[in-house]
This record gives sequence, C-alpha cells and structure tokens, in this order.
Amino acid sequence: MSDLNVASDAKVDAAATVAATAVVLSGAVIGPDTVIEPGAVIREGVTIGTGCLVGENAVVGREPRLAAHSRAQGRETGATVVGDGVSICAGAIVLAGAQLADGVVIGDQAHVRERAVIGAGSVVGRGTTIDNDVVVGSGVRIQTLVYITTGSVIEDDVFVGPGAITTNDDSMGRHDGSVPLKGATLRRACRIGGGSVLLPGVEIGEEAVVGGGAVVKHDVSPRTVVVGVPARRIGTVGDDELVENWR
Ligand SMILES: CC(C)(COP(=O)(O)OP(=O)(O)OC[C@H]1O[C@@H](n2cnc3c(N)ncnc32)[C@H](O)[C@@H]1OP(=O)(O)O)[C@@H](O)C(=O)NCCC(=O)NCCS
Repeated sequence: MSDLNVASDAKVDAAATVAATAVVLSGAVIGPDTVIEPGAVIREGVTIGTGCLVGENAVVGREPRLAAHSRAQGRETGATVVGDGVSICAGAIVLAGAQLADGVVIGDQAHVRERAVIGAGSVVGRGTTIDNDVVVGSGVRIQTLVYITTGSVIEDDVFVGPGAITTNDDSMGRHDGSVPLKGATLRRACRIGGGSVLLPGVEIGEEAVVGGGAVVKHDVSPRTVVVGVPARRIGTVGDDELVENWR
C-alpha cells in the first residue's frame, strides 16, 4: 500500500487491501479483509466494515452536487456507513450519508444517493438509481436499470423487476416547494414487474403483484395481481406463492 494514496489519518486495517491506484481520503476507516480495487475512491470519513469489496472506479461517500432548485438542498448528509460483507461493484457511486447494511450488493454502475438506507442482504441491480432519503428494507431484490424516486419506501422481501420506474410529482415541477413529493410505498414481499410505471403516491400492498409493463395509478390491495394500462385487477396471489415458501 502506498502512503501517497491513503490519507495519513485514514485507518486502514492491516488485513485490508487497497490498490495502488485507489484513493482513501481523510478519516476513512477500512475494516479487515476488505478489498479496495484499482481506481476506487473512498471519500472523507467513510466507514467500511469487514470483508467488503469496493470495485474498480467505484466512489463511496461523495457529497452530492445539487441543482439550485433541488428539494434536497440544505440538508446535512451525515455519516456514510458500509456494514460487513458488502459489495459495491465496479463504477457504482454511493453518495455521502448513505447507509448500507451487512451483505448488501450494489451492482456495477448503480447510484445510491445521499441518506438512502439499504437493509441487510438487499441487492441493487446494475445501473439502478436509489434516490436521496429512500428507505429500502432487508432481503429486497431490485434488478437492473430501476429508478426508485425520493419519497419511496420499500419494505422487506420486495422484488422489483428490470426497468421499473417510480415517480413522485404529478405536476412535473409546476408547483412551489411546499408541495410534498409522493413516492411509491412497496409493502412487504410485493413484486413489481419489469418495465412497469408506478405513478406518484401509489401503495402496493403486501404480497401483491404488478405485471410487467403496467401503469399503476391507484393503490393495489394486498395479494392482488394487477396488469395493464391503466392497471386492473386480474387475480389473487395464492398461498403457495407467498414469500415464506420461497426463502
Ligand atoms: C402478471 C403476471 C404475473 C400474470 O401471470 P399469470 O397469472 O400467469 O397470468 P396469465 O398469463 O394467465 O394472464 C392472464 C390474463 O392477463 C393478461 N396479462 C398477463 N400479464 C399481463 C401483463 N403484464 N400486461 C397485460 N396483460 C397481461 C393475459 O394476456 C391474460 O389475458 P386474457 O385472459 O385476456 O388472455 C405475468 O403476466 C407478468 O406480467 N409477470 C411479470 C414478469 C416480470 O416482469 N418479471 C421480472 C423478472 S424478469
């Protein structure tokens, strides 16, 4: 490990590996058996636990650069904390104040914004964006190129298929800043089909299913299957499909 690429006040465990072309900035803490691959940047004050991987060119703990009109302006980001056994894959960007619990996987080129919280064992797929302040539970599987917008909450064991989109602003910017953004609420173990669009403020009930390509305008009751544009009910999730049978 070169002294040039690791700040003198960073605490890198003797059993960690930092590539010569990686950078570890002031006050960062890197736990044992963690590997920081070439080109990765660990920003000031980030804490990374035991047995993690930070892949090539990933960035952890970067402060956001916000537009002047951004709703996220003026808020402290807080500590960036990465638990044990976390993988932050190549080119992923994790902004300051994000918290990744044990066993989380952040796929290649994914983007996790400031103060987002990702629960234990959850997976964020390749190129997916998790916006600022989003809360994701444990055991959640979010696939490739998904967009989870600000104001969304995702409970444990939810599945989100590739390319699904959540939204939070029906006016699309034509209101003053006092109007709250209303993201999606995805209740425990619901499943969201690929390419679906969840319009602002919808709640998808526990163990409900949204079909691929659906456009969801209204809340979906627990264990209800909806498909189409606009989404309509076509059935019920059977006992045999419940998540406890598939762990
Ligand atoms: C919603 C879904 C689970 C329903 O599967 P199913 O219970 O086997 O439903 P069926 O195939 O029997 O279809 C029932 C009816 O709904 C229609 N339908 C099913 N899925 C639909 C969808 N996504 N959009 C529009 N209509 C749909 C069918 O055409 C059929 O209509 P019909 O009776 O007029 O012929 C499935 O079709 C689906 O969309 N899966 C999502 C897959 C996905 O995105 N996975 C992500 C990981 S890759």
